[in-house]
Amino acid sequence: MIDGPTHMAVSETVRLPPGVHCAVGDGGEVFLVARPRSESLGRLTAEQLATLRRLATACTVDDLLDDGFTMPLLQQLRSGGWLTTTVWGNDNQPLYTVWPRRRRNSAGQDPVPDRVALSRFAVLRRDGADMLVESAAATCDVRIHDSRVLAFVGGSLTSMSRTDAPGQLSAEVGRRLVVDLWRAGFLTHQPDAETDELRLAQWSTHELLFHHQSSKIDGTGGTYWAKGRFAPLPGRHRPFDGPAVPLPKPDLARLRADDSTLTTVIEDRRSVREGDEDNPLTLDQLGEFLFRCARVRGVGEYGGQEISDRPYPAGGGLHELEIYPVVRSVAGLHAGLYHYDAHAHRLVRGSAQPAPLRALLKWAGLPQVLFVVSARFGRLMWKYEGTGYALMLKHVGVLYQNMYLVATAMALAPCAIAVGGAEFFAEATGLDPMTESSVGAFTLGSRRPQRSTGADREGKS
Ligand SMILES: Cc1cc2nc3c(=O)[nH]c(=O)nc-3n(C[C@H](O)[C@H](O)[C@H](O)COP(=O)(O)O)c2cc1C
Repeated sequence: MIDGPTHMAVSETVRLPPGVHCAVGDGGEVFLVARPRSESLGRLTAEQLATLRRLATACTVDDLLDDGFTMPLLQQLRSGGWLTTTVWGNDNQPLYTVWPRRRRNSAGQDPVPDRVALSRFAVLRRDGADMLVESAAATCDVRIHDSRVLAFVGGSLTSMSRTDAPGQLSAEVGRRLVVDLWRAGFLTHQPDAETDELRLAQWSTHELLFHHQSSKIDGTGGTYWAKGRFAPLPGRHRPFDGPAVPLPKPDLARLRADDSTLTTVIEDRRSVREGDEDNPLTLDQLGEFLFRCARVRGVGEYGGQEISDRPYPAGGGLHELEIYPVVRSVAGLHAGLYHYDAHAHRLVRGSAQPAPLRALLKWAGLPQVLFVVSARFGRLMWKYEGTGYALMLKHVGVLYQNMYLVATAMALAPCAIAVGGAEFFAEATGLDPMTESSVGAFTLGSRRPQRSTGADREGKS
């Protein structure tokens, strides 16, 4: 086992991360605050308060007065996740910085085993001029400033390695780096456990990081990070160049009086994958379906963005989802790709590549109509920081349920399709997938009069 005091014989500086504030309550209790986090440090001595003030900028641990109270305070700050630590090389160049993300967990307090490997959940990427190591399983990020540290992390630690083999780093720095990585949760002494136990094996690296990043509350959400830097996207999608097809509208007053009850629709809803090929969908039905599911009922402005009101809810009223009907068989409508202009309740024909369009329909089981649901990511991501993609996926589910219920009320054949086919859609439309990409699909057909097949009752995915 190797381990050592937190403060080994390497040169290090510590500081409170920018954005952390110190507040003193009426009774003299001292709090650290970095919204939405706050923690009480209890009552501090005058010396400890002075230390806290000095930690607003980087200082070496040796510079801080060791009066018997300062080191316990530093320990408290470290384990609470309030202290960034930079380790320096002999040449006075910074090697790496440990940047806390949350409170340390108890596992990181165990001594470092003799042999360790980098966790498969660790991700290495460029961030500015540094390389950043992050992991959903870790309590800190590690910002690498020096290529020797990078070589050690990316080379020596990818398989079980002895923790005293630091490569180009000095033995002391290597040992300190291993301790820091172990305490933060980047290392494992049982790499097989990461693939042998379901609770870990079930997570792909990117899904775990995405789940972790999009479900935390600090520094994320509707921050309007792009305001003043980029223009917001307009609420209405730029139309295709092709001819427009006005869509029929249903009589809402009649539907309010005569439609199936909510309970009937919810209880009768199921996925139906086969349509009535002898009596395909009509343009009236397509118009009613889209009108009831997704038309724009009103527009407005909020926070510098155009918003809209539609039959299904959407975070911030931003409605980033677009619907592209790929028509194979609808009475009164040419086959092909259309965009649903929800503002004007009309279809606009697009000039799509035929081969990927055919591939899309085939992939979806040749429905009468395939609705490709795309997202204009910038609508959401201009406002939401770190959570926009997760929010968009929730919206796809909300829209799917609306489509299921309206189709059931109209006695049609609806089925959601798991995400896929995005490459066919990009190829067919030529849209830049970084800007707008398919994020879901839904099939619709006319309903056969007879009972459904076994395949429909069993479901496919
Ligand atoms: C998000 C989502 C994705 C789905 N993906 C598919 C799919 O790719 N192919 C398919 O045949 N059914 C798909 N379905 C339909 C499910 O298989 C179906 O809902 C399930 O079998 C239960 O049957 P029910 O809808 O009749 O209650 C999906 C459903 C949802 C909600």
